[in-house]
Amino acid sequence: MKKINLLNFEREIKEKIKKAQSLKELDEIFKEAFGKDGKIKKISKIIPTLPKEKRKIVGQQFGKVKEALIQVFNAKAEELRAKAEKETEEKEWIDVTIPPPKPLVGHYHPLTLVRRKIEEIFQSMGFEVVEGPEIEDEWHNFDALNIPPDHPARDVLSLGKTFYLKGGGIMRSHTSSVQIRYMEKTHPPLRIIVPGRVFRLDAIDASHEIDFWQLEGLMVGKDISVANFKAIIEEFLKRFFEKEIKIRLRPSYFPFTEPSFEVDISCVLCNGKGCQVCKNSGWLECAGAGMVHPQVYKNCGLDPRDWQGFAFGFGINRLAMLKYKILDIRLFNSGDLRFLSQF
Ligand code: PHE
Repeated sequence: MKKINLLNFEREIKEKIKKAQSLKELDEIFKEAFGKDGKIKKISKIIPTLPKEKRKIVGQQFGKVKEALIQVFNAKAEELRAKAEKETEEKEWIDVTIPPPKPLVGHYHPLTLVRRKIEEIFQSMGFEVVEGPEIEDEWHNFDALNIPPDHPARDVLSLGKTFYLKGGGIMRSHTSSVQIRYMEKTHPPLRIIVPGRVFRLDAIDASHEIDFWQLEGLMVGKDISVANFKAIIEEFLKRFFEKEIKIRLRPSYFPFTEPSFEVDISCVLCNGKGCQVCKNSGWLECAGAGMVHPQVYKNCGLDPRDWQGFAFGFGINRLAMLKYKILDIRLFNSGDLRFLSQF
């Protein structure tokens, strides 16, 4: 009876061991057999109660079964451990050759890129890059530039005009103020450019901003002429747009230049053939310019009989729009990463 039970017990446990899928499962089976309340314990309590001659045989048999089971347990444990290790290896391996995710890299703002390019070109032609304050006084922004007290640009509340600050002072409405600041301190001959932010009360739309950038230029010497102006501007435009650009001067009026002109450039998009951007004219209005007015020299403490030269003012936003084919000026101040990350 006992002998058969032992064999059945052995077979039963071996069968369970064989089916075990994990070390945890195997551990359960081990406890069931060898644990405190396990079958082995129970059997070992029965054995001393058997008749003497049976006790010996069953006892020996029991010892063999225990030994055999332990061996099978150990072998299975080894197998499951190896399996688990292999699985972890397969699941957790790392391909050290895969490039890591790229850190987000910032972009230069298109206006910064354009400004740097402009500075590089003018510096190579001997121009110094100069800055001036964004908060100005009326002397530098208007009076010294020969702009009369009743000039519409000085209006407080009409469009296209000037921002006045509560505590006094104004937001400069053009970079021409820096012409004055520079000539008050520095004797000609001189050649400077002034890239700078300017502010104008205006209705914002695809081509109007209240906060934009200008490029002022000023070259003064003994005999600087319109011919010098043309040559320098043509060279600048050619290098900026990386192609031949024609320019055209049209008579205009600024209080601080005489004569004054409007600078048109051949359309950079259609090369002068006519397109939507140049309204089929082949030309784009690009800058205001002129020969520095005698009164401006006087206002800076210089004798106009000693000096002559030119000044010009480009819109940097406009140059950027033409270079990168940007159709809406509002994008520059939008902070929209979909726009900015393209540069
Ligand atoms: N300051 C003028 C403007 O803002 C441009 C200009 C600059 C014209 C220099 C002539 C000379 O419109």
